[in-house]
Amino acid sequence: MQTTANTEEILILEDGQAPPPGTVTAPRQPKWYDTFNYIADPEKFCRQNLQEYGPIFKTNFFGRTNIFVGSAKAVQMAFNGDLKYTEIALPATMMDMFGEYSLFQRPDLHRQRKNALAPGLTGRLLDEYTPYTNDAIARGLQTWVSPGKIALYPAVEKICFDVLVPLLLGVRLHDSDSETFAGLPLSSKAELKALYKTYFDGFYGLSKWKSSLTKYGRGLKARDALIDFMRAVIRRRQAEDKSNTTTDFLGMMLASQQQNPEGVFSNAFIENQCLLQLWASLYEITALVSSFIYQVAEYPQVIQHLREEQANIVGNQSNFSGFSPDNLRQMVFLEATIKETLRQLPPSGTASRLLTKSVVLDGMLYEKGCVLMAEPRIAHIMPEHFHQPEVFAPERFLPERGEGKMYEFFPFGGGVHACLGAQMAIAVTKVFTSHVLRLFDWQLTGKAKFIQFPLKRIKDDYQIDIINRN
Ligand code: HEM
Repeated sequence: MQTTANTEEILILEDGQAPPPGTVTAPRQPKWYDTFNYIADPEKFCRQNLQEYGPIFKTNFFGRTNIFVGSAKAVQMAFNGDLKYTEIALPATMMDMFGEYSLFQRPDLHRQRKNALAPGLTGRLLDEYTPYTNDAIARGLQTWVSPGKIALYPAVEKICFDVLVPLLLGVRLHDSDSETFAGLPLSSKAELKALYKTYFDGFYGLSKWKSSLTKYGRGLKARDALIDFMRAVIRRRQAEDKSNTTTDFLGMMLASQQQNPEGVFSNAFIENQCLLQLWASLYEITALVSSFIYQVAEYPQVIQHLREEQANIVGNQSNFSGFSPDNLRQMVFLEATIKETLRQLPPSGTASRLLTKSVVLDGMLYEKGCVLMAEPRIAHIMPEHFHQPEVFAPERFLPERGEGKMYEFFPFGGGVHACLGAQMAIAVTKVFTSHVLRLFDWQLTGKAKFIQFPLKRIKDDYQIDIINRN
């Protein structure tokens, strides 16, 4: 069975051109309350409609007709239309929060900007982040009091923040040391986190009224304050570190700017990338790590398998000093387990693309003016893509089973806008969960409640019981 589309199979219709005879449109009449049902529980919404209408169906989302797609060929079509038949289609409030320097703006500059940013989040530099990631996570886990209860999401977020701020911005923020905030317009980590929270909430404000009474208005104000903070961090860095060593994301950008002052890396672009990549990474990685810890707790045999793999890779624990990049690459079963968490609990929905032309694929018409949504919450539960999708089975991602093909499994999106931080997210999650497996046994305290939208994540008040293994 062919699951991916050849580009010539996608028929792009010019304005006024009729589709071939027999072409049908996607099923389901969009309903005015679809947006509310989706936001309340995207998983349930996708599952119910998949059962009733199949993997391609129409909905109403923020007043527009959306075509949700889950089958591989349609997903591939949705991911790869940039500059040909689609453009990014995010609500206006969201576009303002991203701002003009995000990769979702300016399709003409997208490839150049993405290629320039990639070395700071992948490859050699990513390997160089590993020792610090180990240290910060091991230090953070020492504060988890054992035996005891911890609020899972906030506890993971606290550590992720201390890992990601230095990796991305090159600053270590210690509340107890006022020097770390010298010259910066904020004076505590809590202030920075609170601004990010207000900024985050602004993305999903429904009203575009610029006022302190709206989430959008407050979000934009927080954005300005965060840009001021990033600007000050960069200025301080430039003053104290003329060599711009490339051991963090900001250092990489400043070094590129020095080499090519007329290139991609203007000051404004750098400030915005600091703002956006910290935003993208902090919430997504925290959601993934906490969902992983929650989910594997129900499968003791998976935990045992993970620990056996760890023992094979790092051997005797007595001289253990952290996981190397090579160790991480060898953790094949851990990677499969992370993927299985991403399959069942994908933190975010993906591509939202406006059709600038009508397109026909496999006898179905996708009309100009509709928005295509490639939905992992549909694709990841389709028996055509995954054997017994309701079962938690990390083995499905091992080469022997080979499930999780491109366009069937896409927690990180795909095509031209595929996530730039996917490798970093997996690497940080591997280090984090490896340390947790080494240090603790843990038990759930009942079923967790999840926040469903915009990111799926465990609610703040959900606790787990931990006990130190030594
Ligand atoms: C579990 C972790 C993460 C998940 C689930 C995730 C998910 C996604 C998804 C679904 C997209 C595609 C959006 C679309 O096509 O509309 C995306 C894009 C993106 N992500 Fe991630 N992400 C994660 C971590 C990160 C990290 C750690 C970074 C950076 C440090 C990052 C940076 C980006 C960027 C820059 C894009 C836009 C790429 C482009 O437009 O070409 N993400 N991410």
